[in-house]
Amino acid sequence: MSDFTRKIALITGGTSGIGGATSILLARTGAEVIIVGRNQERGLEQENFVIAEGGQIKFFHADVSNLDDIENFRLFVEKEYGRLDMLFKNAGILLTGSLEELTDEEWDRSYDVNVKAVMHMCKSFMPLLKKSKGVVLNNASINGLHSYIKGRRSYMYATSKAANIQLTKYLAKNYAPYVRVNAICPGMTETNLFTNRDFSRFKDVNMLGRMADPMEIAKVAVFLLSDDSSFMTGSVVVVDGGETLK
Ligand SMILES: NC(=O)c1ccc[n+]([C@@H]2O[C@H](COP(=O)([O-])OP(=O)(O)OC[C@H]3O[C@@H](n4cnc5c(N)ncnc54)[C@H](OP(=O)(O)O)[C@@H]3O)[C@@H](O)[C@H]2O)c1
Repeated sequence: MSDFTRKIALITGGTSGIGGATSILLARTGAEVIIVGRNQERGLEQENFVIAEGGQIKFFHADVSNLDDIENFRLFVEKEYGRLDMLFKNAGILLTGSLEELTDEEWDRSYDVNVKAVMHMCKSFMPLLKKSKGVVLNNASINGLHSYIKGRRSYMYATSKAANIQLTKYLAKNYAPYVRVNAICPGMTETNLFTNRDFSRFKDVNMLGRMADPMEIAKVAVFLLSDDSSFMTGSVVVVDGGETLK
């Protein structure tokens, strides 16, 4: 496994779920981690947890769909760390509804967080990443690749994640060979993304008969952020317990 000592990692949505698990693993292997999110309480809890384990982490309170917030944490990263090696663009929201229920507000909100924020984050941090020959990882979803069974209502989520995957490929082409850009596509994972906590409804969704633990996705994310994946760029990596085989 790669040594992340003195490497700086920025994780949006590091206050919970997959981003939170990735921050723990990166800090355990020596990285200095910055997590970004809106929930101050969860952010500070995550910070305390990692520090108690002996890791280095800082929570930065920000909304990634707000341009001023992005500029503030760009300035923070430049001033406090002076470099950036890894950007895990992980923050995301899941809004669903039937076609008849869709509103422009919800549609825009989904795209602001799941797509536009990726573009703004990359725009802001590419200069630092180019300098360090860094790596970007976008958290998309198998929803961006795969059409679900009839009756699913993920119009906003699925289309925004498909856009995220294409954005990954364009960035990978245009920033090679300086910055590697990949996407991870998790399947169903037990996180706060779902407001309905009855996960038993998903037990037959994949070949393994269960949802992923966030740590199982984080281990792949750490691989994709590390030099162990040095020959990968523009890759779209599915981690779904065989869900897309169905
Ligand atoms: N769980 C799954 O089954 C699954 C499957 C495929 C892909 N994914 C993707 O994985 C990523 C992480 O989701 P998760 O499953 O780990 O869910 P989660 O536990 O709800 O985490 C989502 C994270 O995104 C942050 N976030 C949301 N909106 C934000 C905003 N406007 N500004 C800053 N941070 C924001 C949240 O932080 P705050 O609340 O602190 O703002 C939270 O840390 C998402 O992109 C999701 O689409 C999840």
